[in-house]
Amino acid sequence: MKVLITGATGMIGQEIVTLCHQSGFSVHYLTTDRNKLNYSTVNYQGYFWNPKNGEIDIECFKGVEVIINLAGATVAKRWTTSYKKEILNSRIETTTLILETLKKIKHSVKHIVSASAIGIYPDSFQNYYMDDSPERDTGFLGSVVCQWEEAVLQFKILDINVSLLRIGLVLSDKGGAFPEMLKPIRLGLGAFFGDGKQWQSWIHIKDLARMFMFVIQENLIGVFNAVAPNPVSNSKLTLAIAEKVDKKIIFPSIPKVIMKLILGEMHTLLFSSQRVCSSKISDSGFEFDYDNIVSAVDTLIDK
Ligand SMILES: NC(=O)c1ccc[n+]([C@@H]2O[C@H](COP(=O)([O-])OP(=O)(O)OC[C@H]3O[C@@H](n4cnc5c(N)ncnc54)[C@H](OP(=O)(O)O)[C@@H]3O)[C@@H](O)[C@H]2O)c1
Repeated sequence: MKVLITGATGMIGQEIVTLCHQSGFSVHYLTTDRNKLNYSTVNYQGYFWNPKNGEIDIECFKGVEVIINLAGATVAKRWTTSYKKEILNSRIETTTLILETLKKIKHSVKHIVSASAIGIYPDSFQNYYMDDSPERDTGFLGSVVCQWEEAVLQFKILDINVSLLRIGLVLSDKGGAFPEMLKPIRLGLGAFFGDGKQWQSWIHIKDLARMFMFVIQENLIGVFNAVAPNPVSNSKLTLAIAEKVDKKIIFPSIPKVIMKLILGEMHTLLFSSQRVCSSKISDSGFEFDYDNIVSAVDTLIDK
């Protein structure tokens, strides 16, 4: 099988590319960075696109049956007014450019599997969000994710099956939030955010990449929460990391108001609470290798 991946050069993308190759899939990828085309090999072919200008190399679609859609500017950067536009546009323009291009050419695409995020669900200590929970966050992130999902759902117009993986906090030693959480804890400066009671629905990067493959191979369609079966509180996650590196959490918790001053609106990433259920993907036959936070953390830290 041949797949086309957007955002293949990112943290999640690289893990998925490895699994695609292990499964004998050939990978085409779209990149906004011409320097990243240099890594191309026979079963890893890069194609340039500039979604802002509507530019895309249509050769990327040749023989492709499945699109894995991951492209998007990081949300872990200060949310200025102009950067907020970048966060949104980098998801909508990319998705829409692919759709509009497919409308104009002959192609063999049957399925699009897109990243989404659990930020679509409102901040809540009590709610337990299922894949079909109708509640929507009305803040900036919730609005971005809703618009992103809406853009991906438009592929149905072309009779292309759509799958949306609402991804939680991805734990990886290669990037994202986890190394940033680890750094202060290693230095003995770790602390909970607020009272540490907010739910963090995490997933190990290896399980997440396997989940993308599972959805493709089993031809699963619809929305799936991409989180491990056991969400934990911020304090439990912090303590699990601290224990692994033999440190104590002695500092007082970091008040929301301080992080708001430092990070601006982006502080909501650290304090918002989403307890999310992954039973739909499990009921479809997916087996998690990492369902316990202690064993997940264990694999990500060299003492
Ligand atoms: N990591 C998480 O915890 C998490 C949680 C929920 C959802 N997600 C979503 O999952 C997706 C992949 O996450 P990731 O952690 O792998 O992200 P990442 O490492 O930041 O990679 C994202 C990729 O998107 C491409 N990209 C960046 N800005 C772009 C722009 N303006 N226009 C077009 N492409 C752009 C880049 O590829 P090129 O440089 O090759 O163009 C980059 O490699 C993201 O959309 C993210 O929102 C991630």
